[in-house]
Amino acid sequence: MNKRALDYALKIRLPITVVVILCSFALTFYVSRPERDGLGYQPEQPINYSHKLHAGEMNIDCQYCHTGVEKTRHAMVPPAETCMNCHKVVKTDSPEIKKLREYWEKGEPIPWKRIHKVPDYAYFNHSVHVNKGIDCAHCHGDVRKMDKVEQVHSFTMGNCLDCHRNAHERMPEIAENINKGPENCNACHR
Ligand code: HEC
Ligand code: HEC
Ligand code: HEC
Ligand code: HEC
Ligand code: HEC
Repeated sequence: MNKRALDYALKIRLPITVVVILCSFALTFYVSRPERDGLGYQPEQPINYSHKLHAGEMNIDCQYCHTGVEKTRHAMVPPAETCMNCHKVVKTDSPEIKKLREYWEKGEPIPWKRIHKVPDYAYFNHSVHVNKGIDCAHCHGDVRKMDKVEQVHSFTMGNCLDCHRNAHERMPEIAENINKGPENCNACHR
């Protein structure tokens, strides 16, 4: 190799190679975890609804609004009707409640942004967990303290399996009532 070729190799090709390698590392990391998983996701919502106020200070039961958790796969987010049980009379002059009333009167669903989500190819079911006495907070954090809901735990396969393997250590308060969770692939990939 002559000197120019060597110079070229060191000054141009080497840095390019390094950059390419770094990018592919960054890409692999980005495509895998944890960003894709939604950890820390806390979107602005169309109405400034607070769990801290309703579920915390006012102590309204989670299931008053999330009616699906014990019966079905999905927890479900309540329709405006549920809110209007109170807000037909409570705080009717607040701008946020006026927005709520507008959705309700037009019969339009409130476009809440979805926060927790597993991909379609993975099967998750609320009722099988909640009926065994597993508290919402094990998976969602202490929502009663959140003005705005945020995803605080990872929902990767690794995290599902970690709890399934160590269910009794992770939840000593209900250890007598639960089995370990399944680890076979087709329990969650049906
Ligand atoms: C008065 C009704 C009401 C009560 C009570 C309530 N929630 Fe909610 N919840 C909502 C609404 C509306 C949303 C959608 C807007 C939002 O994310 O804040 C929601 C969203 C959520 C989400 C995020 C859903 C997603 O998109 O991933 C979780 C988790 C949640 N609630 C858990 C709880 C828990 C746990 C409790 C009890 C401690 C509770 N909620 C009590 C109305 C309620
Ligand atoms: C069991 C009754 C009840 C239900 C059900 C309920 N709320 Fe409320 N909400 C209240 C009360 C009480 C306050 C606080 C009033 C105050 O500040 O004195 C309040 C306050 C609010 C506020 C703050 C208003 C402001 O400007 O201060 C918003 C926004 C709100 N609620 C939205 C909702 C939404 C959305 C739902 C349905 C997912 C809902 N609420 C369900 C009773 C209820
Ligand atoms: C074992 C973990 C776990 C427990 C316990 C749990 N959740 Fe969830 N939750 C999830 C997962 C995973 C998702 C995403 C589900 C999906 O994408 O299908 C989710 C999604 C939600 C959603 C979004 C809407 C929906 O139906 O998917 C709400 C609301 C919710 N959970 C509320 C609750 C409430 C309230 C409780 C307690 C009564 C609870 N969750 C207990 C793991 C859990
Ligand atoms: C906090 C602990 C915990 C987390 C997190 C958790 N699980 Fe579980 N899961 C359990 C336990 C415990 C059982 C077994 C309950 C029993 O049978 O006593 C179970 C059971 C199951 C079952 C079997 C239900 C049936 O039909 O018998 C499936 C499927 C499942 N989990 C999927 C998931 C998926 C998918 C995730 C992640 C998104 C997840 N779980 C996260 C604790 C957990
Ligand atoms: C307890 C539930 C559970 C079990 C058991 C489970 N998975 Fe998963 N798996 C998930 C969830 C949830 C996801 C989606 C979240 C993620 O990408 O980590 C997933 C994602 C995957 C992916 C996509 C990963 C990626 O990075 O895109 C593959 C491949 C996979 N699982 C294969 C398997 C195989 C093979 C087994 C059996 C050895 C298995 N899973 C057992 C819950 C489970």
